[in-house]
Amino acid sequence: MPTVRNALIWDAGRDRAEYGDIVIKDGYISSITAPKEAEGSILYDCKGRCLVLPGLVNAHTHVSMTLLRGLGEELPLMEWLQKKIFPIEDRLTAENIRSGADLAIMEMIAAGITCFADMYYFMDEVAMAVLESGMRAALCRGLPGDNPVKLAENLALAKTYNGCEERITVQLGPHAPYTVPRPALEHIVETALDKNLGIQFHWLETKGELDSFRNEYKIEPADYLEQTGLLGVKELILAHCVWHPADQLSVVARDNVTFVHNPKSNMKLGSGYAPIKEFISSGVRVALGTDGAASNNRLDMWDEMRFAALVHKGYHLDPTIAGARGILKMATVNGACGAGFRDAGFIKAGQRADMVIVDMDNPRYVGCDPGNVPEFVVYAGSSRDVRATIVNGNVLYKDGKFNTLDSEKILAAASRDRRSLTS
Ligand code: NI
Repeated sequence: MPTVRNALIWDAGRDRAEYGDIVIKDGYISSITAPKEAEGSILYDCKGRCLVLPGLVNAHTHVSMTLLRGLGEELPLMEWLQKKIFPIEDRLTAENIRSGADLAIMEMIAAGITCFADMYYFMDEVAMAVLESGMRAALCRGLPGDNPVKLAENLALAKTYNGCEERITVQLGPHAPYTVPRPALEHIVETALDKNLGIQFHWLETKGELDSFRNEYKIEPADYLEQTGLLGVKELILAHCVWHPADQLSVVARDNVTFVHNPKSNMKLGSGYAPIKEFISSGVRVALGTDGAASNNRLDMWDEMRFAALVHKGYHLDPTIAGARGILKMATVNGACGAGFRDAGFIKAGQRADMVIVDMDNPRYVGCDPGNVPEFVVYAGSSRDVRATIVNGNVLYKDGKFNTLDSEKILAAASRDRRSLTS
């Protein structure tokens, strides 16, 4: 059986990392032995100088927006969307969506990301990119407005790809409360319940959205979530949640609900600071995401972890907020659960063999030991240290080389599409 040898292994289920070998069978971790004891083929020999973490999960993004990276920098949100993003999005073809998705997947795999949650359109293209790359993903077709054609596309996506190769889950994707009229949202929720599908939804990204709830719709956000039935769907991924009132968290502290914190996108677009301390203390499951490459501009969960761990400390003048152990859990198991992969996110027997191998043989890791792994990863670590990315027991990336992607072809196609979209 394939093995990862002599690694320092960490996951959120333990307080300390331990040295050991990981034995993989049929895409799952079958056992963890003492170091240098496992037998079988060697996927990666860590030689006691690499760390193994559960695969990183980017729990909210729009992968094909890699083609829109750098456009309309530093504009206010609505001006950025209306003048720069929407006109190009109107012209995106299925081919563009694929080349943008391939580009994003290449960036993410090299950064140790094994799974992502995505909302966009021409999602069949994204699904095919996921399947061919070997990654794992939770996909939905973005549903703005009240549009039966788009909902039918989302349902067709679910029919074809939900559960595909056990690497894809499909949700319905009502875009946001400010773009989807309430009756249309309620219809989407009923459909999700009927088909046993989850939902991905942008939620209270900006203060204006909270003001609209209170001043126009005359309802508190928690009541809206309850009354529309959203809280009852299989898995509910709420992206951003920056302005979710800190005193309305008890209703969302449920096993089927995940808040996705996107600190860099929220800062770049001037949206604010999510009350993450209250999220955590209320027992809400919080995952981390990058959002699209046009508002981050990296698809790098190491960056996201670092920002998430630092920004709230500075903002609240409190170094005890958002500790590294919780942040690493957000970036791994919490994202995997949110995306509907309940058996991923830990490095232990019975879990999916999704992992990232990190080089400790570099200056940033001198002093890292079994007792302080999360702190080194979050505060000192970098995606530059990723040596290998493994999904379902398959090595997708190893020592700078992609096993499932043709990187030159992907860069050429994305560059060509970017030129044609902006010329
Ligand atoms: Ni988004």
